[in-house]
Amino acid sequence: MNIPPINLKVQFKSVRRDILRSIREILDEQKLILGKYCTTLEEMIGCYVGVPHAIACANGTDALILSLMALDIRDGDEVITTPYTFFATASSIALMGAKPVFVDIEPEDMNINPALIERAITPRTKAITVVHLFGKVCQMEKICDIGQKHGISIIEDMAQSLGAMKDDKMCGVFGDVAAISFYPTKNLGGIGEGGMVLSKRSDLGGKIRKLRVHGMADIPYHHEMIGINSRLDEIKACALVKKFSHLQKWNMTRLKNARYYNRMLQSLPILLPRIEDESSHIFHQYVIRVEERDKLQTFLKEKGIQTGIYYPVPLHLQECFAHFGYARGDFPEAEKAALTSLALPVYPELKKVEKDYIIRSVREFFS
Ligand SMILES: Cc1ncc(COP(=O)(O)O)c(C=O)c1O
Repeated sequence: MNIPPINLKVQFKSVRRDILRSIREILDEQKLILGKYCTTLEEMIGCYVGVPHAIACANGTDALILSLMALDIRDGDEVITTPYTFFATASSIALMGAKPVFVDIEPEDMNINPALIERAITPRTKAITVVHLFGKVCQMEKICDIGQKHGISIIEDMAQSLGAMKDDKMCGVFGDVAAISFYPTKNLGGIGEGGMVLSKRSDLGGKIRKLRVHGMADIPYHHEMIGINSRLDEIKACALVKKFSHLQKWNMTRLKNARYYNRMLQSLPILLPRIEDESSHIFHQYVIRVEERDKLQTFLKEKGIQTGIYYPVPLHLQECFAHFGYARGDFPEAEKAALTSLALPVYPELKKVEKDYIIRSVREFFS
């Protein structure tokens, strides 16, 4: 057997005809950027999450950058975030000239630990960027309370969690702004790069819409502020519109797969992801924790099962962030997670026989 970490070819088959028809129409009409499909996508996602402002952009990293720009994060500011996430969560902060102030994670779900946030706040703290890692919503009630108490903005990095909910609310509605990625391997993955910023605040929504197109005001070539070029192509937007109708079903299937793994692997010396309810985890990744992680990965690879390590180096130990002065040992839980985490394939197109083969192979490793 050969089981990839994700199978985009199979997924594409289910939407192929629809997407190709729309691409032909876009090419005939030659309205190639920020056209009707971008507007439709913004309306669909804004409505789905429950926010009035949804601004499509070029990728998830830009969505974070636009969020920080809208909040006026700049030189000398500090933004609290997790060291255990994809690089862009923190690099976007550093690109603004601000300092990413890391706070360790909860050992169980590997999301930022709210109990450690307050002691990291200084007079320079302007925002907290939370990441709903692997599709699991952070403890937003506690985090929003801290934000409100200290007058600090909240940014949700929801690159991995579109559709995940907490207390009947979609992630993306908790913070001042939220950033989505439509990178092809995401739960809602495009046919190229793509991203979106969400906000419940009209002041930020309007500002981000301008920042996306060089800070241009309503009058062409009049620039109110210095923005960036982060527009979304129509071809990419149309593919996302077509795929969007499948998102809920795909997320539910990921959850079903995760439940199946949890049931079948529970007797092994593995820390399994906790499933609290039906909605707070959409399993962008199904990540287990194992002491002999590297040996298990090699064993599975030899059996034709490809797994992923998200993430091998916590961000406080990245070479490019050395000037921030962090050292090994600063965030023990993130460092432990980097040594023990392993993502098993969980994508919705996995066949039963493939899941059973993965389960059998993991069991064989421990027998
Ligand atoms: C947590 C997180 N933040 C930000 C990003 C950046 O998104 P993109 O790759 O679309 O720029 C990603 C995706 O790779 C991510 O997983």
